[in-house]
Amino acid sequence: MQQHTKLTVVIFMTLVVPCILGYNQEKENFIALMKLLNTPQKPERYFSPVDVKFPVSEQPTVTEFNWKSCGPSDPISADVVILPDPLVIPGNISVEANATLKVDVVAPVKVSLTIKKKVLVWLPIPCIDGVGSCVYDDVCEMLDTMFPPSQPCPAPLATYNLPCHCPFKAGTYTLPKSDVVVEDTGIPSWLSSGDYEIKVVAQDSKGSELACFSATLSLK
Ligand SMILES: *[C@@H]1O[C@H](CO)[C@@H](O)[C@H](O)[C@H]1NC(C)=O
Ligand SMILES: *[C@@H]1O[C@H](CO)[C@@H](O)[C@H](O)[C@H]1NC(C)=O
Repeated sequence: MQQHTKLTVVIFMTLVVPCILGYNQEKENFIALMKLLNTPQKPERYFSPVDVKFPVSEQPTVTEFNWKSCGPSDPISADVVILPDPLVIPGNISVEANATLKVDVVAPVKVSLTIKKKVLVWLPIPCIDGVGSCVYDDVCEMLDTMFPPSQPCPAPLATYNLPCHCPFKAGTYTLPKSDVVVEDTGIPSWLSSGDYEIKVVAQDSKGSELACFSATLSLK
């Protein structure tokens, strides 16, 4: 409740007041937004009913890792389970996934990410240095850069003979429960504790939707 009140004031002073006054200070607003996003938030599931005396928004509370398809008839479908819940980053994460591709997935594959963090309300995270709510024109090319095709794919993919380069042949792919170590290098500052909402949309070269997933998760 105290935290809520404080945040309401911060949001109001930094984002709302300048807008009302008609200042043209996009840069200051951006800095204020990043300050808010970088502030660690207690995931809402930890709030006791006493904390939430007044409903600040109608938006849903993140209570668990929740993975949903938002394109049920898309050619790519997948189920993903990530543990622990909430996630601890940096740390060890366990991932389990099944994916079905009804078509061969060939380059280029455009991916649009939308990431929001709940700081009282769901605030969109901007795209900064290629990280955040970004549009990637060809993730196939990015995969080739991250994982040089001359080398084997990284664990745990290599362990289960899973590909890490386009084209991905139509078929079913299974990643049994595997541990992935997330190092603390390269973690953007906004990725601090709190509740997150992520939406991923992939499109082929003709602009047809290949996949759409949305997930909510908490970082501790
Ligand atoms: C992650 O797991 C590895 C090996 O399983 C272990 O050596 C390491 O300490 C773990 N790291 C954390 C942050 O728990
Ligand atoms: C993936 O499929 C296997 C076998 O059908 C199943 O046991 C497992 O629970 C599935 N995993 C996910 C993340 O859906």
